[in-house]
Amino acid sequence: MVFQRAKHLKGEVTVPGDKSISHRAVMFGSLAKGTTEVTNFLQGADCLSTIDCFRKMGIKIDNTPERILIHGNGLHGLSAPIDILDVGNSGTTARLISGILAAQSFESALTGDASIKKRPMRRIMKPLSMMGADIVSINGNDCAPLRIMGAPLHGIHYHSEVASAQVKSSVLLAGMYADGITQVTEPTLSRNHSEIMLNYFGATVRTENTTASIEPEPVLTGQKVNVPGDISSAAYFIAAGLIVPDSEILIKNVGVNPTRDGILKVAIAMGGDITLFNIRNEGEPTADILVKSSSLHGITIEGDIIPTLIDELPVINVMAACAEGTTVIKDAAELKVKESNRIDVMVKYLSAMGCDISGTQDGMIIQGGKALHGALVDSHMDHRIAMSFSVAALAADGMTEISGSECVTISYPDFFGDLLKLTR
Ligand code: S3P
Repeated sequence: MVFQRAKHLKGEVTVPGDKSISHRAVMFGSLAKGTTEVTNFLQGADCLSTIDCFRKMGIKIDNTPERILIHGNGLHGLSAPIDILDVGNSGTTARLISGILAAQSFESALTGDASIKKRPMRRIMKPLSMMGADIVSINGNDCAPLRIMGAPLHGIHYHSEVASAQVKSSVLLAGMYADGITQVTEPTLSRNHSEIMLNYFGATVRTENTTASIEPEPVLTGQKVNVPGDISSAAYFIAAGLIVPDSEILIKNVGVNPTRDGILKVAIAMGGDITLFNIRNEGEPTADILVKSSSLHGITIEGDIIPTLIDELPVINVMAACAEGTTVIKDAAELKVKESNRIDVMVKYLSAMGCDISGTQDGMIIQGGKALHGALVDSHMDHRIAMSFSVAALAADGMTEISGSECVTISYPDFFGDLLKLTR
């Protein structure tokens, strides 16, 4: 797709449902007794992969545009998959489902696309093995494809090296089948959607500082889940509204869970004009966000805030490129093992657009304020790269061509249509 400078961005947008919460609704609904009804479910390719995996294990799931109905079979109600489980591009599906599969009375195998086959799985294989799981990387490289032989599991207290909700959730899900309490301590708090939703379905999950614990053998019961809009999708409109002059965008119904709202804190610290309205709590805190064009300045982003904005760092790079002064991003080595190596890819193509950016071991340094110009960008089939560069293009001279832009279907199928509407 080809993009060029926007004169302004004006209007309202409602972003699709949160990806993390949509995955969890399908998984926990499948393990609950009775029917779970999910509204505002994200119909992105990643969440459809989760549906496909649970269908292969005998769960009946009706997917209509209005709602998803999951006919759960209870904690011990999955059947041996009829085929290899294909998680597509979804790291969340791969890592969370492994925690469930580790405890089943059957063998399963799990694979995914080229990106998934390069992403580290040792981070879940290690704690699950400590619990008694029999889980191997078929190619011996600690990546998918994985073969998982269900086994009886023990409760452990796992100290994770990375602040990762996928690792934490994988261990907690396995902990539902363990012989005692399972605890996970992480270096800093990662998103807590699993903890919130597992409690809502009837499990007992406690959180103290950065330790989450779960009691075994919960009775999960089908629930109604209304998924809030995805703040990670809203992030592109937040950034675009700030950097394109004469803009005003109202982003409606966005999840603003404090373990996810780092983009708001960073945007405000950079001088962004952002106001939250209509703040409400429907299990997950939700708000409408008004964004107006602003003169931004560089800041340092590091430490505990990093997990709360990890998926937004590519588009924060774009904001930093348009800000006066230096932005330093540290403690974000995780960017190297996302859908692409997001340090390398952002440095390569923001440089191609004229930005002064260099990569470091755990982040990047951006000297903002240089005029951006159009460039040829390869998305590396990473949805967040494609969306970030389409935002950069709106504030750049000339044309920006993004190849592989169709990968936005992973998390936001109508992204380009919604963005285009605001340029009129
Ligand atoms: C997610 C956790 C994060 C995030 C990913 C979704 C989740 O990954 O980057 O997009 O739904 O639990 P990590 O757990 O690897 O940090």
